[in-house]
Amino acid sequence: MSLSVTKLHPLFAARVEGIDIARGFSDTDFAELRAAFEEHSVIVLPGQTLDDGQQIAFSERFGPLEMMLPHAGNNLNPSHISRMYNSETDGAIIPPEDRRMIYLKANRIWHTDSSFKETPSLCSLLYAYEVPPEGGETEFASMRAAYDALDAETKAQIEGKVALHHAARTRDMVAPGLVTPERRATPPVRHAMVRTNPVNGRKALYTGGHAGKIEGMDEDESEALLVRLLNHTTQPDFVYAHKWTVGDIVIWDNRAVLHRGRSWNDAVHKRTLHRTTVAGDGPTV
Ligand code: SIN
Repeated sequence: MSLSVTKLHPLFAARVEGIDIARGFSDTDFAELRAAFEEHSVIVLPGQTLDDGQQIAFSERFGPLEMMLPHAGNNLNPSHISRMYNSETDGAIIPPEDRRMIYLKANRIWHTDSSFKETPSLCSLLYAYEVPPEGGETEFASMRAAYDALDAETKAQIEGKVALHHAARTRDMVAPGLVTPERRATPPVRHAMVRTNPVNGRKALYTGGHAGKIEGMDEDESEALLVRLLNHTTQPDFVYAHKWTVGDIVIWDNRAVLHRGRSWNDAVHKRTLHRTTVAGDGPTV
């Protein structure tokens, strides 16, 4: 082992040292990193110095990148980078009523990236340029720990079941009209409620804010179960909160964790993070 791996939570998440992305690293180092990712679900690589091009090239080691859909958060410019920021290029803080700030609030709801796509994301990589002195953590909830802790009856109830996911579900919780009529009109996508990691066979309860309905159940039963599963998954024992330092890049496994951004005093302090999202390898059902 040439990398050093330190656990950040009893159940998942680890800090990995020994890789300087900008300087380059060997295929062996990448293989160790990839194994740590499969094992720990959330990997923190501190002390990096990156630009967007380097972040994209590093992210592509995990697989082809998703293109972000055009939305208010990226000024309607689809690209491989999703920029999360609360200040203009001249340094002025963006007011809370600005559409970009409202759009960012959807990230404060527990979700797994791109579960509204037929092929959801494998992993996301978030790199910190500017961070507030307090608040603004990103929280991760282990869907594997959540699955393991389910009672046998619930495991049997969700095995082989499919949930319908749609992006409008989380956006509508933030403000009406955040989703374009075209996007709202797209049908929800079907996802397995239990996903198995192909490397280690560990199962995860695949849920989150985009999941709106379980096939084969009536509305009330489905809603009650989805709420119960989300509350179960995000209980404090299964959550790691990442307190950002400039230069951190955090990689998380969207098959195995939910995440959400936390609030901070955004009228005063700046927070700028850039995200790349690696595509998954196909539909889950
Ligand atoms: C995200 O949901 O991708 C970003 C979360 C955050 O802002 O911490």
